[in-house]
Amino acid sequence: MESSVEKTYALGFDIYGTLVDPLALVEPLQALVGEQAVQFASLWRTKQLEYSFRRGLMRRYADFDVCTRQALRYTQRALRCELPESDQGRLLEAYLYLPVFPEVVAGLAALKAQGHRLVAFSNGVEASIRALLANVRVLPHLEDVVSVDDLRTFKPDPEVYAYLARRTGRAPAETWLVSSNAWDVIGAKAAGLRAAWVKRQPDAVFDPWDVEPDAVVSHLDELPAWFDRQVK
Ligand code: 2OP
Repeated sequence: MESSVEKTYALGFDIYGTLVDPLALVEPLQALVGEQAVQFASLWRTKQLEYSFRRGLMRRYADFDVCTRQALRYTQRALRCELPESDQGRLLEAYLYLPVFPEVVAGLAALKAQGHRLVAFSNGVEASIRALLANVRVLPHLEDVVSVDDLRTFKPDPEVYAYLARRTGRAPAETWLVSSNAWDVIGAKAAGLRAAWVKRQPDAVFDPWDVEPDAVVSHLDELPAWFDRQVK
């Protein structure tokens, strides 16, 4: 396909919630915790993020795999459903096979055809996110994988967004974050990047911080048309 846009950018894709679904563990969880599965998946994700934010603020870095493991332990205690080590291991293993959202591969292929430079950009540890992206066959569609682990801090520290721009070799204003996480979009904008919010749920609320995304799409495969419209 010929490139259809005049201006191309570096696009950094958030992984959890944007490319793959971290709440899709409900099915394996159902077998383990029954009707608490939805609440379990959601509390696990919320705590995982909270732990990363707190560790960033406290400057007590422990990588995202640790945050995920400790959040899993917290969730079991909070919901009073302690799981055997083997089941916890299976859930952590399932984190390396989180399903990719259905439109992602087509969206990435179309953005690549427009001439943009596509990289993954995540709080996750590089080895873990490379394994995950390879397992779900997204890795071949990306030029690089950028992990905040290199800086030993987490999104939304402005340093990590500046690092994304440096790694792609583009100026911050020519580097986009593409994320379904509103807090991530606001973090990127605060650091001088541009940002697209993937509003996957129609009722998702963007934090009212007087910061707006540059683009809002409900699915990733709408982004190529958005870029296309900017030059027409
Ligand atoms: C990420 O992939 C945590 O979703 C966030 O960086």
